[in-house]
Amino acid sequence: MQSVIPVNLPRHAYDITIAPGSVDQLGVWMQGTTKRPLKLGSRVLVISNPAVFEHYGRRVIASLEQAGFTVATCLLPDGEHYKTLETLTKIYDAALANRLERSSTFVALGGGVIGDMTGFAAATWLRGVNVVQVPTSLLAMVDAAIGGKTGVNHPNGKNLIGAFHQPRLVLIDPHVLQTLPVREFRAAIAEVIKYGVIWDADLFTQLEAAPQLDQLSHLSAELLQAMLTHSCRAKAHVVSKDEKEAGLRAILNYGHTIGHAVESLTGYQVVNHGEAVAIGMVAAAEIAVALQLWRPADAQRQLTLLQNAQLPTHLPSGINLDAILSSLQSDKKVEAGQVRFVLPTQIGAAIVTDQVPTTIIRQVLQQMQTV
Ligand code: NAD
Ligand code: GLY
Repeated sequence: MQSVIPVNLPRHAYDITIAPGSVDQLGVWMQGTTKRPLKLGSRVLVISNPAVFEHYGRRVIASLEQAGFTVATCLLPDGEHYKTLETLTKIYDAALANRLERSSTFVALGGGVIGDMTGFAAATWLRGVNVVQVPTSLLAMVDAAIGGKTGVNHPNGKNLIGAFHQPRLVLIDPHVLQTLPVREFRAAIAEVIKYGVIWDADLFTQLEAAPQLDQLSHLSAELLQAMLTHSCRAKAHVVSKDEKEAGLRAILNYGHTIGHAVESLTGYQVVNHGEAVAIGMVAAAEIAVALQLWRPADAQRQLTLLQNAQLPTHLPSGINLDAILSSLQSDKKVEAGQVRFVLPTQIGAAIVTDQVPTTIIRQVLQQMQTV
């Protein structure tokens, strides 16, 4: 089972290839075809972290070398709290030491943290070199590796420093998910459910038909392939219509308004990104219901799916509601002082609005407090 999903951007078109076992063929995929050579230069810097590299590093390097690339490696410490300007210097140092040129390529081998940092380093090194994304977490496969958003965190906010820099290729090997920790897999299911709610009703019903969504071993290979293909298609479609988030792309932030606040207020320690998004999706759904934009029965269907993936659907205990409300004001999604929410209107469609009264946000958050 192999799918190729084009991201049709006028000046930066590329393919997302989903191919089981492809981690051993990265070199060949990076050459492109005779008709469409990718021209990724001869030098490659593979950027990863020890946890991922230990499983796939040797195989990726062997495949690149076999295809004739000269390969250097840069390992970064693992974790969201290392997604900083300071850690980026390690990539620049490695690029300098290994004489990466304008025509060279950075390869991101890892989850969203590695992907975002590698992408930003590629956007800025020599004012822009190629980047190839080889996402190894489910979240990076369905979201972070696609669409060119790159960046690092500022001590006062997530992803505040960044650039748009599209990859030349995204290569997804579903087999690598076998080593992904269960909690990480589960968290990313929130993003898959997100695509079902905001964009793809067919994906939503396929997810509803699955007995359990909480770990890889509970999914059939067909469902996994469908989840990856539908999610990547949804993201590719949205990004190709609105690369720089002037409008439509904002719907991908469904669940992220409250989600980011929860993530940062708990110091990125209590819930991970996908779990925070799950909480944010419940909040957005309840807001949509309170504003009579969405049917309560559909909000319940979403809740059932999130619970079926064993995702959190309440606020973490001890979190202060006023702190959430004030954190919303510092979010990137604030426009002229108004907090922007993505709210579902039916399964498979959503709108972006800044017309949500604070009283409703507070009321919904109160309902979502852990008792
Ligand atoms: P992550 O990169 O921290 O990966 C999660 C954990 O899984 C890490 O410990 C990682 O080492 C490990 N891991 C990854 N793949 C593995 C594998 N195959 N086997 C074993 N271990 C593996 O987190 P994430 O959830 O992948 O990504 C979250 C980040 O992505 C956040 O920083 C978020 O801001 C960013 N993000 C970016 C975009 C975007 O559009 N650029 C979209 C969504 C999220
Ligand atoms: N993850 C949201 C976006 O890429 O726009």
